Amino acid sequence: MKVLSGIQPTGRFHWGNYFGAIQQYIAMQGSEQSYYFIADLHALTTVREPDVLRQNIQDSALDLLALGLDPARATLFRQSDVPEVTELTWLLMTITQMHLLEKCHAFKDKKAKGIAADAGLFTYPVLMAADILMYDSDVVPVGQDQVQHIEVTRDLAQRFNSLYDECLVLPNAHVLDSSAKVVGTDGEKMSKSYGNTIPLFDTPKRLKKQINQIKTDSKTVEDVKDPEQCAVFTLYKLFSTDEQQAELASRYRAGGMGYGEAKNALYEATMAKFGAAFERRTDLEGRTDDVEDILQAGAKTARTKAREVIERVRSACGLKQKPAAI
Ligand code: TYM
Repeated sequence: MKVLSGIQPTGRFHWGNYFGAIQQYIAMQGSEQSYYFIADLHALTTVREPDVLRQNIQDSALDLLALGLDPARATLFRQSDVPEVTELTWLLMTITQMHLLEKCHAFKDKKAKGIAADAGLFTYPVLMAADILMYDSDVVPVGQDQVQHIEVTRDLAQRFNSLYDECLVLPNAHVLDSSAKVVGTDGEKMSKSYGNTIPLFDTPKRLKKQINQIKTDSKTVEDVKDPEQCAVFTLYKLFSTDEQQAELASRYRAGGMGYGEAKNALYEATMAKFGAAFERRTDLEGRTDDVEDILQAGAKTARTKAREVIERVRSACGLKQKPAAI
């Protein structure tokens, strides 16, 4: 099984990124091929300060490694270090029908809000398709919000294969039911663009503050509460065992527990889950040269595969001679 996924360096990673995607990257590393990349070309559609982008890219690599991505079992690289992907984007663009992109949510949402979208945002799903098809990926671990893009990828691969030779592999999305759409502090999908994220790595003080900001209803301490209607409990489920969840749920239902206590339980669970990764990250911060070496080595491995696939695609669409039949 060939696994691939990408994540944008648009700011610090949050719980949605981890539970929706990164934990899957780590679980799937060691597959026949597992490629994970920092989608810096995609980030250019939103991050326009070069120094901020550079910093975000480095932070992304540090976060992924600290969380357990192991360069001995997975290839970690920067998207822009494999220029073949932009060539494949163009080749796919020549067969992409406009209506396919017009229905994609990132573009549709901006248009609905009356915000002018540029061609980068409009064609974003084609670059994503190229990312996936570039490495013959079978499985793409993501959160629910990316599934539409993987469907577009399949459509494009099918169209390319039917117009030319069968040369592109059709991928499947892999989404975890339990964390397909992690909620943010306001109970909506956790997303940087909604300003409702809780970062993965922050100081205990700031983390506590973010957790305290999770919206709850106005029930008093004595009131009986419904855990299933509470964002604090929904998030707690991500961090806890079935028994821990049952215990906290019964305290909600019994009354006599304020939301502050539930928030404390969530804070403790967070520290237990990410404490060790936080320490690993601090250590990695002093070894940025090693981290750069990991990215360079990853790019080399990824490029070898990308060159093989781009040759196949070039010859399929007539840019190159067909390889001699064996
Ligand atoms: P990005 O950077 O927005 O998000 C990275 C990953 O985190 C997941 N995610 C979530 N999952 C559950 N709940 C949430 N609230 C939540 N927020 C984010 C996303 O689903 C994603 O898996 N276009 C991609 C990056 C990309 C890519 C690719 C992914 C570029 N090329 C090729 C896969 C394959 C994106 O913007 O993800």
